[in-house]
Amino acid sequence: MALMDVTDLTMIFGGIVAVDHLTFEVEEGSITALIGPNGAGKTATFNCLTGFYKATSGEILYEGESLLNTRPYLITYKGIIRTFQNVRLFNNLTVLENVLSGCHTLGKKFVGSSIFRPPSERKEEDELREIAENALDFIGILDLQDQLAKNLPYGYQRRVEWARAIASRPKLLLLDEPAAGLNREEKNDLIGLIRRFRDELGITVFLIEHDMSLVMEVAEQVVVINFGTKIAEGTPDEVQANPLVVEAYLGKDDDEEEEAV
Ligand SMILES: Nc1ncnc2c1ncn2[C@@H]1O[C@H](COP(=O)(O)OP(=O)(O)OP(=O)(O)O)[C@@H](O)[C@H]1O
Ligand SMILES: [Mg+2]
Repeated sequence: MALMDVTDLTMIFGGIVAVDHLTFEVEEGSITALIGPNGAGKTATFNCLTGFYKATSGEILYEGESLLNTRPYLITYKGIIRTFQNVRLFNNLTVLENVLSGCHTLGKKFVGSSIFRPPSERKEEDELREIAENALDFIGILDLQDQLAKNLPYGYQRRVEWARAIASRPKLLLLDEPAAGLNREEKNDLIGLIRRFRDELGITVFLIEHDMSLVMEVAEQVVVINFGTKIAEGTPDEVQANPLVVEAYLGKDDDEEEEAV
C-alpha cells in the first residue's frame, strides 16, 4: 500500500480547472517529484493534500484513510508537513523560535503559554528546545539560532523552513519548490539534505520542483502534470524521454505539426 494514494483528484475554482482527475501514488520511503510547467496545478495539488483547499472531487488516502474531510491542523498531526513556494517565516522571531513554532504537533501545551509553568511543562519545553536545536544542527545552522529570521540571507531563510519542517518529525514532507532562488552550491546542499531526510530520518519526501537537473538527481519517481492532468510518470530517465513531457516544457514545434498534417 502506498503512503499516499490520490485518485481522480479534481479542484475547480469558478471556471478554472486547476487539478483535473489526477491519479498518482507516493510510496512510503520514496523521494517523489511532482513537476509541470507554470500554472500546471502543482501547488493546488499540495493545497488539496494538506487540506488548504477542499477538493471538488476525487479521493486522497493517507495510510489507507481519507483526508478529504480532515482539517489542515489535523493533517499536520498525522505527520504531513509542508513548506511553501515562498518563504513564510516569522520575521521578528529568532531562528530557534521559528523552528519551535513548528513543534506544536509534538508538545501538549503551547510553548510559552503562561508565565508560571509547572515543572512538567518546563520539562516539555526543554525537550522541545532540544528537538528544535537538533533540527537546526541537522540542517547545519545551529550557530544561527539566536539571529532574527529577517536578518538572514534568503538561502538561510529557506534552511530555517526545512529545519522547522523536520523538527515536527513528519512522516511525509511536502516541499513546494525548495530550490527556487538558490544558487548551484545551495542546490547541491539541498540534494544532500533531501537524501538525508529520507535515509537518516525515515521521511518520505514529495517535492514540487522546476529545476530539472535537481529532480533528475534526487527523485526516484516523477509525476508530470500539465493543465492539472497527469501526462507522464516514471523514473527520471523515463519521463525525460517521454515526448509528451518534452512537448509540455518546450511547446509543440509548429513545423513538425504542419509536416504531420
Ligand atoms: N485560489 C485560487 N483561486 C483561483 N484560481 C486558482 C487558485 N489557486 C490556483 N488557481 C489557478 O489554478 C491553476 C494552477 O495553479 P497552481 O498555483 O497550482 O500552479 P503551479 O503548477 O503551482 O504553478 P507554478 O509553477 O507557477 O507555481 C492556475 O491557473 C491558477 O491561477
Ligand atoms: Mg506553484
